Amino acid sequence: MSAITDVALRLIYDSRGKETVEATVTTRSGAIGVAGAPSGASTGSHEARAFPPGGVSAALERFPQRVRPRLIGVDNDGPTVDARLHDADGTDDFHEIGGNVATAISIAAALARGRESGRSLLEVVRRPGVPHGRFPAIVGNSLNGGRHAVGGPDIQEFIAFSPAPHPRDSVRAALAVHAEIGAALVRRFPGAALGRGDEGGWVAPLSNVEALEILTDACHAVTDRLHVEVHPGLDLAASEFFRDGRYRYKERTVDSEGQVALVAEWVDRFGIRYLEDPVAEEEYEPLAEVTRAVGGKTLVVGDDIYVSRRDRLVRMGETSPSNAILIKVNQVGTLTDTLATVDEARRRGMATVTSHRSGDLPEGWLAHLAVGFGSAGMKCGLLGGERVAKLNELLRLGAATGAD
Ligand code: PGA
Ligand code: ZN
Repeated sequence: MSAITDVALRLIYDSRGKETVEATVTTRSGAIGVAGAPSGASTGSHEARAFPPGGVSAALERFPQRVRPRLIGVDNDGPTVDARLHDADGTDDFHEIGGNVATAISIAAALARGRESGRSLLEVVRRPGVPHGRFPAIVGNSLNGGRHAVGGPDIQEFIAFSPAPHPRDSVRAALAVHAEIGAALVRRFPGAALGRGDEGGWVAPLSNVEALEILTDACHAVTDRLHVEVHPGLDLAASEFFRDGRYRYKERTVDSEGQVALVAEWVDRFGIRYLEDPVAEEEYEPLAEVTRAVGGKTLVVGDDIYVSRRDRLVRMGETSPSNAILIKVNQVGTLTDTLATVDEARRRGMATVTSHRSGDLPEGWLAHLAVGFGSAGMKCGLLGGERVAKLNELLRLGAATGAD
């Protein structure tokens, strides 16, 4: 492993047209890694701050004195580089240098490490025991609501969960669900203008149940036509409509108990196989109740509750309130921290789902992480260059196994 000789940081824009950063890490051997950091909209309250107060310009101003000197000359192994990023910041949530600065540098350094040793990023991050040729299900956002879409349902994401073992089938089926939903919306709203949300899913004036019906019909139609399994899934992002102890849907308001009953009913009625953030981030016991009720039939995935942090997982005690955890590198800031969370989840027998952000970049490294972590799913949108980049990279990894 050779030493880092240069780190550069620059302003770039994400898929929402918002400012973020891209890092280039160069090592003595001449290996170069380049990566940008995505940004969320429905952020958990405990996740790393993407940028210091003052935003991207403040991060860029601080970088030359505060971050860069701590990295030059350092051996490019992951734990050392990532520890230097923590030293440069000195806070628990990266609010001094910015979690997105740490993420871009951490991933760029890992890419350079791979280049130097002739390995893909997947091989750099592969966890012990993750078999070759195993691929994640596609967790593909097909219809949007909540904070990702104006004028749609309260629920943030209606998902095509496509668990076919090979990406050529899972990607094809998930994309087919997106297209099928588009056709259903055109039939339902003839002549109306239909939009797409931040992650490329459709947006239409539907209630939550109407959207679930359209999604479920689309999944069945695709399974029948392609003979590839694909099931409905949801990311409720329930913290976004939880206020004063109540879940406030446009059409009704329910308490925690009512929310648990409602989502359990939806799981049974629609055959949901992926259920993310069904309750608000502080609702640990209701989450455990959801898992007890339907965890045998569906992945129950915690995003805002854990924000990809190992310590948030550990403080729940030995029994986790969900059977799966969402993994987003920039929630925790570095690859080393991310790996610690993935390893802890695996030790607990929890599934991991490796995820994009709603504001993302046309880069494919997410697919390497999802495969290398042995994740049950890769969560991403289905349309738009920044989403397709991840699907296409997964297809490349599929082709590279020789299974094609
Ligand atoms: P975010 O949304 O990237 O806006 O946080 C994705 C999610 O909630 O999973
Ligand atoms: Zn989420």
